[in-house]
Amino acid sequence: MDFLRFWVGGYMFGFLFFIIIAHAANGDVSYSIPEEMKRGSVIGNIAKDLGLGVNRLSSRKARIDTEGNRKRYCEINLNTGELTVADRIDREAKCNEDVSCSLNFELVLEHPLEIHNVAIQIEDINDNTPTFPKDTVKLEIRESAIKGARFRVNEAHDADVGKNGVQSYYIEKNDNFILSVNAKADGGKNIELVLDKELDREQQKEVTLILTAVDGGTPPRSGTVAIHVTVLDANDNAPVFSQAVYKVSLPENSPVDTVVVTVSATDADEGQNGEVIYEFSRISAIAKELFYLDQKSGEIKVKSPVDFEELLRYEMFIEGKDGSGLSSDTKIIIQITDVNDNIPFIIIKSLNSPVPENASPGTEVGIINVQDRDSENNGQVHCSIQQNVPFKLAPSIKNYYSLVTTGELDREFVSDYNITITATDEGTPPLSSTKNIHFTVADVNDNPPLFEEQSYRAHVQENNKPGSSICSVSATDPDWRQNGTVVYSLLPSDVNGTPVSSFYPSTETPGSFMP
Ligand SMILES: *[C@@H]1O[C@H](CO)[C@@H](O)[C@H](O)[C@H]1NC(C)=O
Ligand SMILES: *[C@@H]1O[C@H](CO)[C@@H](O)[C@H](O)[C@H]1NC(C)=O
Repeated sequence: MDFLRFWVGGYMFGFLFFIIIAHAANGDVSYSIPEEMKRGSVIGNIAKDLGLGVNRLSSRKARIDTEGNRKRYCEINLNTGELTVADRIDREAKCNEDVSCSLNFELVLEHPLEIHNVAIQIEDINDNTPTFPKDTVKLEIRESAIKGARFRVNEAHDADVGKNGVQSYYIEKNDNFILSVNAKADGGKNIELVLDKELDREQQKEVTLILTAVDGGTPPRSGTVAIHVTVLDANDNAPVFSQAVYKVSLPENSPVDTVVVTVSATDADEGQNGEVIYEFSRISAIAKELFYLDQKSGEIKVKSPVDFEELLRYEMFIEGKDGSGLSSDTKIIIQITDVNDNIPFIIIKSLNSPVPENASPGTEVGIINVQDRDSENNGQVHCSIQQNVPFKLAPSIKNYYSLVTTGELDREFVSDYNITITATDEGTPPLSSTKNIHFTVADVNDNPPLFEEQSYRAHVQENNKPGSSICSVSATDPDWRQNGTVVYSLLPSDVNGTPVSSFYPSTETPGSFMP
């Protein structure tokens, strides 16, 4: 498995650090795997790579934590310590066209709390084919066009990256055209048909060519487009965009129909040959759901509200085409800006209820985690606990808090607590949420039974019948169940040398004394 590489970074340092401060992240691990691996495939033995004892993974509640409610791609096998693929990992869906694509999550263990950052680099495989925006391209070319005249065609797109992306183009051999491919400033290619031998309308009214794009995968994949050339004799210029790249920013959740940007291309021709129609020549399926383009005005508008937390940048290409099919294109970059629209939420990671009443102050009774999907200040969360309870929140690693006792607990005084935890972010205005935690206090046999009176005095007539009651005593104990159940017995003593017990039969009703 030479495609599988991993490295353990800063582990030794982390381990030493961990001994000194129990609550600190102690080591990160990184793996590299190809996309689209089968569910259950082993990525690596994370327990071994982090030096964790495999036999304690279960008792330490080892688990993979992803931020928020994002998809879980990996799982840890608690018996073997292996990290396995839990769901389909499609690099293109996850990272678009970004060259580097990684999954980041945390491995969390308890007793004591320990968090490890895990990064998985997703390597591209050649699973996408180069595709042209349309199956056919229509061009109208005047027969007087001279040798060397150039006619632009939209480039093909391949969702794969690097060498798996489009590498080359060719056209089948023909009498009139050769192909010219040049790099553009934005990283794309400028594809042009170059007239090599002038057209003669009387000889040929139409020419059809097949243009092929090939990627560099092993094996390579290819896509084609048919180019239909109609030969006429009109004078014509291609439209020219006012900018090669339009870069704009858009606040997330902008209402439907908000104008994001207006593109504009001018064409030196008159009449129909100078009228420019705008069309997306390359746009992702996701972006197509969110934006639409007015063909005539060149306005890009919001079709459906955009969520910053989904994706923070969209790129697309627009083609401006005149009446005879001559065209040019421009690139649009839409940067989405964050709005504080996600409420912070509190997750209870572990809870030790009931708490024994003799737990010493400072005992950890729970671990909570707070999350907010917004970024920067909008995602900075502070956590607090209500006043007047013998518990506090002690900040732990990152966005984790320990819930610890601050004073003595007494079940006989308060037997359960309803604690309210509030999380508030730093956005303007701030958003907050609360969570109630219910705690019960477990009994410890810490109260001795107490008699209602210090001493009992009773008068007995002589010669009384056996079985008549002399006096009743009563003791109470506030502890719980058997810890609070009082059983009575007489201490051994004697009257003039005769044991007291001989005067009383054993009795089944504790507390009554009968001769
Ligand atoms: C806590 O809340 C529950 C129900 O929400 C209630 O039954 C209980 O009495 C409350 N306990 C305290 C100590 O307030
Ligand atoms: C009684 O107290 C002991 C500790 O002193 C404790 O272990 C036990 O659970 C208590 N019994 C009940 C019923 O709460």
